[in-house]
Amino acid sequence: MASVLDPCSFSSFTKCVTKHLNLSYNVDFERHVLKAKVALTVEALEDHFSSLTLDTRDLKIFNVTANGQEAKFAMGPKHSFMGTPLEITLPFDLSRGQHVIVELSYETAPTASALQWLTPEQTAGKTHPYLFSQCQANHCRSMVPCQDSPSVKHTYYAQVSVPKELVAVMSAVRDGQEPDPQDSSRIIYRFRQPVPMPSYLIAIVVGALESREIGPRSRVWSEKEYVDKAAFEFSETETMLKTAEDLAGPYVWGQYDILVLPPSFPYGGMENPCLTFATPTLLAGDRSLSNVIAHEISHSWTGNLVTNKTWEHFWLNEGHTVYLERMIGRSMESEQFRQFKAMGGWKDLQESVNTFGANNPLTNLVPSLHEVDPDDAFSSVPYEKGFALLYHLEELMGGPEVFMGFVKSYIQLFAYSSVTTEEWKNYLFTYFKDKVDILNKVDWNAWMHTPGMPPVKPQYDTTLADACIALCQRWVNAKEGDLGGFKESDVKTLSSHQLIEFLSLLLQEEPLPLSHVKKMQEVYDLNSFMNAEIRFRWLRLCVKSKWEDAVAMALKMATDQGRMKFTRPLFREVYNFDKYSEEAVRVFKAHRAAMHPVTAGLVAKALKVDSTQTTSF
Ligand code: BES
Ligand code: ZN
Repeated sequence: MASVLDPCSFSSFTKCVTKHLNLSYNVDFERHVLKAKVALTVEALEDHFSSLTLDTRDLKIFNVTANGQEAKFAMGPKHSFMGTPLEITLPFDLSRGQHVIVELSYETAPTASALQWLTPEQTAGKTHPYLFSQCQANHCRSMVPCQDSPSVKHTYYAQVSVPKELVAVMSAVRDGQEPDPQDSSRIIYRFRQPVPMPSYLIAIVVGALESREIGPRSRVWSEKEYVDKAAFEFSETETMLKTAEDLAGPYVWGQYDILVLPPSFPYGGMENPCLTFATPTLLAGDRSLSNVIAHEISHSWTGNLVTNKTWEHFWLNEGHTVYLERMIGRSMESEQFRQFKAMGGWKDLQESVNTFGANNPLTNLVPSLHEVDPDDAFSSVPYEKGFALLYHLEELMGGPEVFMGFVKSYIQLFAYSSVTTEEWKNYLFTYFKDKVDILNKVDWNAWMHTPGMPPVKPQYDTTLADACIALCQRWVNAKEGDLGGFKESDVKTLSSHQLIEFLSLLLQEEPLPLSHVKKMQEVYDLNSFMNAEIRFRWLRLCVKSKWEDAVAMALKMATDQGRMKFTRPLFREVYNFDKYSEEAVRVFKAHRAAMHPVTAGLVAKALKVDSTQTTSF
C-alpha cells in the first residue's frame, strides 16, 4: 500500500523522517552495478517507534543495522512502478524526537531505472565508459533505499570510488579526493550537501570529465569534446544567477555548475543542486536555447528550496519555475520577449491537451496520481497551465512587479520545506488580503481540478509573433501557383526563436501539401539546420505531410539523441505514417538496448511494443 500522504511512495514518513544520508558507492563498470552502503539518520515522529518502511526498486539488500545492532528486514511485494517496500524492524523502541542511524549494505541492479550505463562507444571520447543518474520523479529508490518522497528533506554526504582515469561529480559541493586505500587502481571522490533537499535531487555522474570556469561560482563539466562549446553556450550563467537573485533572494547552494551529458540524457535540463544537468542538444552555437539554463537556475528557489509535497503538486515546482524563467527573460531581454515566450507556452499546452485528450484527468493542473506512474503523467500541462494561472493572477493583482512580490515572499516563507497547492493558495489569499474579492472571482475549480484548456485565455502582446503568424498564414493559404512567391529572405530576418515559433504554428495547422514542404526545403533549406528545436519541428512537419525522404532523418534524430521531448514525438510521428509504422518499430527495437531505460519504456508504450522488457546487459 502506498502511504496515505504520497501516492508514489511506500515510506512511513508520518512516523519518521530522514535528516541526513551518508552514502558510499563503489562504481563497478564491469557488472553495471553500484556496490553501496548508506547510513540514514532517521528521526522518530511518534513514541514507541520501532519499525519503518523505505522505498526500494530492484535493490539487493544484504544487511541492515540500527545504531550498529543487527536489524530484521523484509521486502514486500513488487509494484509495477513504485518498486518494493522494505520493512525494517528495529531491535529497540524510540521516543518521539529521538534519532537512529539505520545502515544498509546493498547493490543496485544493472537495470536500475535511475541509471544509464554507457559503453565507451556511446560516449564522445569513445575510450571510457560513462554512468549518469536521473532520479526525478521516483527513481532515487533504485539507487538508494530511502524515503523517496519530495515531502522529506535531508542533507547528504557521499564518497564514490571510481577507476582512477575517471571523475565523479554529484549534486553537492566537491569535498576533495584521495586514492582508494582498498584498491590502487581507484580513486575516491567526496561530496557534501549541507542544504536539506528531497531525495529526487540526488545525482551522480562518472566519466572522463573535464571542466572549465565560466563564472565566479560556476564551471561547466563534460567530456573534453564538448567543454569549449559548452563554455561559450552557457557564458550568460552568472548574469542569469544575479538576475534570479534580484528577483527571488539569495542563492543558497554555493556553487552553480552545469554538466553537459551524453546525447541520451532524457531531459533538456535537470535542476540537480550545485550541478545542473543539461542535454548536449542545447549546444546550438548561438546561446538561443539558454532559457533552459534560466529555467534550471530558477529551480534553485522554486523546486529545490520550496518543493512540491507530492508529485500531484508538481505544478508548484514547474509553474513557478517557468514564471521565474520568463521573468529572467524579461530582465535580460524585454517584456515583449516574455510575452512571446508565454504565447509559445500556451501552444505547447494546447498540444499536450490534444495529445492526452481534453477530458483526460492528467490534464488537470492538480491531477490524482493514485496508481499513476509520474513518468506517464509528465507533460507540458503543469508547466504551462501553471504558468498561465500565475500570469492570470499577475494581471489581476497588478502586474509583474506586484506579483513577483508575492512569489518572493512565498519562497521566503516556505524555503526548506515542501508544500501543497492548498498551502500555496492560502498564502496567496493572505498575501493579497486587500484583494480577496478579486481572488474570489477566480474559477479555482476550473483552473485546478478540471481537465482541458484553462478557463481564461491570456491576451499576450504579439509584436514578436506577428512575423511568424503572417508567414505561417502565407504557407497555409498558398495555392500551388503561389509557391513561386516564397523566398529565402522570408526567414532571414527571423530570429531562431521566431523560426521555432513559425514551425510550431504550422504544426498546429492541418498538414501542408507535400508540394509545399518540398518548396519550403528548396527555399529555406531547413534540412541543414542543426538547432535541435528547429530541426525537431521541421522533421515532424515533413513526416506529417508524408514526405518519405524525411523519415530516415526523423528516425536518425530520434536515435542520435535521446531527449524525450524530441525522441518520443519523432518516433510517434513516423509510427503514424502508415507506410513506415513497422520501420519505426524496427529502428526502435534496434536501438532499445542503447537507450535510457525510462525513454525506452515510454517509447515502447507509444509504439505499442511490449514495454515490460528491460534494457539488456
Ligand atoms: N525538473 C525538470 C525535468 C524533469 C521533470 C525530469 C520531471 C524528470 C521528471 C526540469 O527542470 C525541466 O523542466 N526541464 C525542461 C526545461 C524546459 C521547461 C525549459 C526540459 O527538460 O525540457
Ligand atoms: Zn523544470
